[in-house]
Amino acid sequence: MIERTLVLIKPDGILRGLVGEIIKRFEQRGLKVVGLKMVWIDKSFAKKHYAAHIEKDFYKGLEEFITSAPLVAIAIEGIHAVEYVRKIVGATEPKSAELGTIRGDFAHTSYKYSDSKGITIKNLVHASGSVEEAKKEVALWFTPTEIHTYKISQEKEIF
Ligand code: CDP
Ligand code: MG
Repeated sequence: MIERTLVLIKPDGILRGLVGEIIKRFEQRGLKVVGLKMVWIDKSFAKKHYAAHIEKDFYKGLEEFITSAPLVAIAIEGIHAVEYVRKIVGATEPKSAELGTIRGDFAHTSYKYSDSKGITIKNLVHASGSVEEAKKEVALWFTPTEIHTYKISQEKEIF
């Protein structure tokens, strides 16, 4: 039940100065940051991360965007962390994302708008979509020595 999952603060989150605000949303719920780094990925790494989307129409714009500035990669650990983090992040389309989620509170666009412009949906964060995806993504972004084992105070009270 204790899972690890990958979160990326995408270039729009970095350029808008939302790194602290986004990390706070996970910390305040007692999820544990076990890996953290700033990376500027190239197209070849983007293809590894988004392998499932390479054939899709939106991939070209997505690749351009994700390689346009540095991003912050975070490995997060917690009880049902994969599902929990997705809930905190909200729906892919900002227009549909609930208020109170990261995408619902800070992003502002729709599929219709981005498709009409031929650009990617700028939704601030990536979060692994399933336990299987999370395992693969944490291993892609972090070496074992970059993942840290330690106890946060919430673990004494909650876990
Ligand atoms: O990120 P998430 O898992 O919520 O969505 P996804 O379906 O795995 O798509 C990955 C990313 O591609 C999204 O977060 C969007 O940034 C982008 N995307 C897009 O630009 N246009 C779409 N029609 C679908 C996804
Ligand atoms: Mg996804």
